[in-house]
Amino acid sequence: MYKILMTYDSIEGLDTLLSNKDFKIELHNKPTPEEFKTLIKDYDGLLIRSEVKVTADIIAVADKLKFIGRAGTGVDNVDKTAATQKGIVVANVPGGNTISAAEHTIGLMLSLARNIPEAHKSLKNKKWDRKNFVGTELLGKTLGLIGLGRIGNEVAKRMLAFGMKVIAYDPFVNADIARSNGIKLKTIDDVFGQADYISIHSPLNESTKEIINADAIKKMKDGVRIINCARGPIVNEKDLSNALKSGKVKGAALDVFSKEPPEDWTIVETDNVVVTPHLAASTEEAQVKIAQEMSEVIVDFFTKGLIRNAINVPTVDWETYKKMMPYVELASKIGSFQGQITEGGIQEIEVSYCGTLTNFNTSSLTVAYLQGLLSPILDIKINFVNAPVIAKERGIKIKETTIHDAQDYSGLIVAEVKTDKGKISVSGTLFSDKNPRIVNINSLNVDIVPADGKILIINDDKPGVVGNVGVVLGDNNVNIAGMNVGRKTIGGEALTIIEVDSTVSNEIIEKLSKVQGVKKVKYVAL
Ligand code: NAD
Ligand code: MLT
Repeated sequence: MYKILMTYDSIEGLDTLLSNKDFKIELHNKPTPEEFKTLIKDYDGLLIRSEVKVTADIIAVADKLKFIGRAGTGVDNVDKTAATQKGIVVANVPGGNTISAAEHTIGLMLSLARNIPEAHKSLKNKKWDRKNFVGTELLGKTLGLIGLGRIGNEVAKRMLAFGMKVIAYDPFVNADIARSNGIKLKTIDDVFGQADYISIHSPLNESTKEIINADAIKKMKDGVRIINCARGPIVNEKDLSNALKSGKVKGAALDVFSKEPPEDWTIVETDNVVVTPHLAASTEEAQVKIAQEMSEVIVDFFTKGLIRNAINVPTVDWETYKKMMPYVELASKIGSFQGQITEGGIQEIEVSYCGTLTNFNTSSLTVAYLQGLLSPILDIKINFVNAPVIAKERGIKIKETTIHDAQDYSGLIVAEVKTDKGKISVSGTLFSDKNPRIVNINSLNVDIVPADGKILIINDDKPGVVGNVGVVLGDNNVNIAGMNVGRKTIGGEALTIIEVDSTVSNEIIEKLSKVQGVKKVKYVAL
């Protein structure tokens, strides 16, 4: 039974999760940070919107937690670094509220252009005032978008139909694709200088925090209108309020605030500001879509091990995942095998994916390989989430290559590890598309099933050496299940791999290392 803590009180759309007998969902609406810290210790999963902050403090005590699900888009309320280091998957449902947020943005833009909220208020007060609420047309005006992702693009598409000219600033977007959608990518200063309406659709991060401040406003056209349906702290509210009072900014529409609900109400009370209480995603359709998708993401994660929509792990769809699964296991086994035979501090890793493997999202395979490789080396719990971060923290360079030729195999993984003591290369494949095999170690062809215990011996290729090894094992009651010998030249150095039916103690390994002709012995458990 998986215990999921939910910190908001809307269960609409969550049927898949609520009706699943493997899950127990417990609702604690908006816990305080102190309550949250006590509660979280008990849960395998966490389901949130924007009502709580999942800080490093909370994550530090969340020892059972494996999954944080954000029922929505913005994950700025989760400390992703702390979660990743602890191996916790953070996932969101990004597309579910795109249209709702785009439509709300447009509603606010029209409200600003046509003074709809003020006219409404005035008429409700029984005043028939037509003179004071003369608006402006959007046709022919320039809309400047900051952030051209899902919502930005949907806003652009609709406002182009209104006859607006759309320009955008987004440092991570391809200018040709934007152009083909009728949008001109510009510098931030050009957007500030040319736009009649500025609408923000970027995430909140270090580079966007207070991107709209007094300096930015100075660069804008007189009478500009600003809309923020992204995140409150992207706008410096005090600077915006001053610019509204001076008339430099003609109007602003805000759905989000630096503190929600606001503690300082100045910006809300400023004239010419239209406000909504973080409503952009709040439509019946979006809430249900998001809840349904998140339910499936949670059930798949806990019951099938399928990671979807994660923002801190490479993810694939279910059909691809089913095809990839045997290769994910193979990559992890190769890593684990190599981790146990590698000596010295790891400096570089090169993983090559050959043949049919080039069709897959190989970064998922590399993550699995790293998890296998680092687990036997490090004391901390390594999983698919934290493996790349830990490798990076240890200064390990990772290179991934794809090669179409897989020699005699349909798909082959070749992993080479460089340490301060030398290099070791291990290759593996799947027999009949499902049975993992290690087929090459340091250019010696072998055929090893990566399961159970193995004794790896580097020995002189001379008569009697392997026989004497067998005698030591027999004397110590260790049954040999299979044997594999690889060598480059007759009489040179050989690699002998002995599959055994029971674990082999350090004492027996010590005895084996004393057999004449044996140079090195290692017990590997897979
Ligand atoms: P998205 O990830 O599809 O798009 C975000 C875009 O911002 C990306 O194209 C990215 O390249 C761009 N970006 C990143 N850093 C930038 C920077 N420094 N300057 C300019 N652009 C930058 O996200 P989305 O689904 O379009 O949502 C956008 C934001 O809207 C979310 O992050 C969320 O905070 C907010 N949101 C708010 C509501 C609401 O209810 N008010 C609803 C949904 C989303
Ligand atoms: C989101 O990021 O999805 C929105 O802000 C909606 C929300 O937080 O509820």
